[in-house]
Amino acid sequence: MSKLLRIGVLASGGGTNLQSIIDRCHDGSLDAEIAVVISNNPDAGALDRAARAGILTQCINHREFPSREDFDTAVVKALREAGVELVVLAGFMRIITQTFIDAFPERVINIHPALLPKYGGKGFYGDRVHQAVLEAGDAESGCTVHLVDDQYDHGRILGQKKVPVLPGDDPQRLAARVLRQEHIIYPRAIQWMAQGRLSIADDEVLL
Ligand code: GRF
Repeated sequence: MSKLLRIGVLASGGGTNLQSIIDRCHDGSLDAEIAVVISNNPDAGALDRAARAGILTQCINHREFPSREDFDTAVVKALREAGVELVVLAGFMRIITQTFIDAFPERVINIHPALLPKYGGKGFYGDRVHQAVLEAGDAESGCTVHLVDDQYDHGRILGQKKVPVLPGDDPQRLAARVLRQEHIIYPRAIQWMAQGRLSIADDEVLL
C-alpha cells in the first residue's frame, strides 16, 4: 500500500463532512489518514465523531487567544506536531490568516455549499447561502471544493458538483441536497491531493 496522506481536519460544527472522510478512510477508497481533528468549539459534534473513530482530537478555543494570529499560530503548531500534510476545513467557522496560509501553502482546502464564485464571501454561510440562491430564483446550486487563500471563499476551485433547485424547496431542503453531494466530492478531492494531482485544470471539475 502506498503511503497515506496525513490530513488534519478543522471543524466547528456537527461534522458530517468529517464523517464522510472518516468513512472513506476506513473503507480504503481514500489513501489518507486523519492525524488530528481540531475544533475551536468545545461543543462541536465533530469532536465526538472523531473520538468515536479513535482519532486524536484537540479543542483550541479561539476565545482564549488575544488575536487571530495567536489563535492561528496555536492551530498551526498542533497541526505540525501531528505531522499534517494537508489541512481540510470542514465547516470551520474562523477566518484563516496569512500566518496559516504561509505555514501550509496550497495545502489548505475548504468546501463551500454553493457554486462559487456565486454566493461566496463574507456573510454567506449556513442557510444564508441557500436562502440567497432561492431568492435569486436560480435553477441550480451545488458545492465547491477550493484551495484556501487570504480571501473568503476565493482560492482556486478544485471541483464542483451541481444539484437542481426544486419546486417547494426551502433553505433546509436545498441544504440537505447539497450536503449529500459534499459528502461525495470532498473525499474525492482529497484523494486527488493524496495522488499528487495538484494541477487540476478548469475542465477537470467534478461534475
Ligand atoms: C457544510 O455545508 C460546508 O459546506 C460548510 O459548512 C458545513 C459543514 O457541515 N463549509 P458539517 O459540519 O460537515 O456537517
